[in-house]
Amino acid sequence: MNCLSPSLLASDFSILGEQVKMLDEAGAQYVHIDVMDGSFVPSISFGLPVIKSIRKCTDRIFDVHLMIDEPVRYIDEFVDAGADLITVHAEACKHLDRTLHAIKDRGVLAGVALNPATPLSVLDYILPECDMVLLMSVNPGFGGQKYIPYTTQKIRDLKKMMEEKHCQADIEVDGGVSLNNVQEVLDAGANIIVAGTAVFKGDIRENVESFLNIMEK
Ligand code: DX5
Ligand code: ZN
Repeated sequence: MNCLSPSLLASDFSILGEQVKMLDEAGAQYVHIDVMDGSFVPSISFGLPVIKSIRKCTDRIFDVHLMIDEPVRYIDEFVDAGADLITVHAEACKHLDRTLHAIKDRGVLAGVALNPATPLSVLDYILPECDMVLLMSVNPGFGGQKYIPYTTQKIRDLKKMMEEKHCQADIEVDGGVSLNNVQEVLDAGANIIVAGTAVFKGDIRENVESFLNIMEK
């Protein structure tokens, strides 16, 4: 099934709770939560107390994208704050296997994210441990950037790799996805779509519905 995961990074933080409820009512299945530490990526976004407080607003899947160095240090806290799915960057973990197991041991789903330039070969042995692979289609750190075109081939290559290894994991694509290119991303093999600017700019409800119309076809 295809799912939409709107990125809260593009939301209006002064009315965050209301916006989360709006996404839920419009039918978005996931909520994408970008946590940035100012070290792995240049910006700092928000963290645990914010996640804990919006947990009250929806039962939708909290898709927590950790753009932080050595995320293994904080897995318990993010699970306690309400994460359902925790994605860590392969580039940010000294011990990726240990980190994924720390996530799975807490009974939540585990994802691995790859920066645009990171080759798929880092997944060769770890793929069976992943519930999801997130391919970054921009350099992480900021919303509102342009989709990097070579991502489409990378999605196809990942899909093929998963088929060859009989792997059922989800493929999420994050960065610069809009109503204009989402079909291309789906056709390449992604099934979880992150969209920040394209959801929050203008009418949120209408934007979510437009995405879902394309995605449910
Ligand atoms: C980038 C974040 C993305 C970003 C997506 O570092 O991981 O989730 O907020 O925003 P848009 O859709 O505006 O590129
Ligand atoms: Zn993200």
